[in-house]
Amino acid sequence: MAAASDRRAAWGRWRLGLALAAACGAASAAEAPKAPPKAVQCAACHGPNGIGTGPAFPNLAGQKADYLVKALRDFRSGKRQDEVMSVMAKGLTSEEIDELAQYYEALGQQPK
Ligand code: HEC
Repeated sequence: MAAASDRRAAWGRWRLGLALAAACGAASAAEAPKAPPKAVQCAACHGPNGIGTGPAFPNLAGQKADYLVKALRDFRSGKRQDEVMSVMAKGLTSEEIDELAQYYEALGQQPK
């Protein structure tokens, strides 16, 4: 019967689509932004995914990298002051600040 084999063909295409979608999902998970080493220190407050672990801790995920770089440089130079962040930022090199900023910006572009 022609109709039955059409349905089977359609089912086959549908399953192929599912398999492709699953493969794409796996590929983008593999491309998840890689945390720079210093991010371990930030996770206690800003969360392993860049989402603050409490109301006093701002989310960093998805924030613009330029903004994060400026905030961290300002904390480091003393232009911006915070009991915790001024100390944290003093331990970072400019390269580490750039890496962390790129990382947190990229985290916000992950599918939720
Ligand atoms: C012990 C908790 C703690 C740790 C650890 C910590 N932070 Fe923070 N961070 C804070 C708090 C609290 C603020 C808010 C400061 C303020 O009000 O200005 C903040 C603010 C920031 C901001 C400014 C956000 C904004 O929206 O203006 C950035 C950027 C930041 N932290 C990055 C980092 C990075 C990168 C690390 C790791 C190297 C880190 N923080 C580690 C507590 C922490």
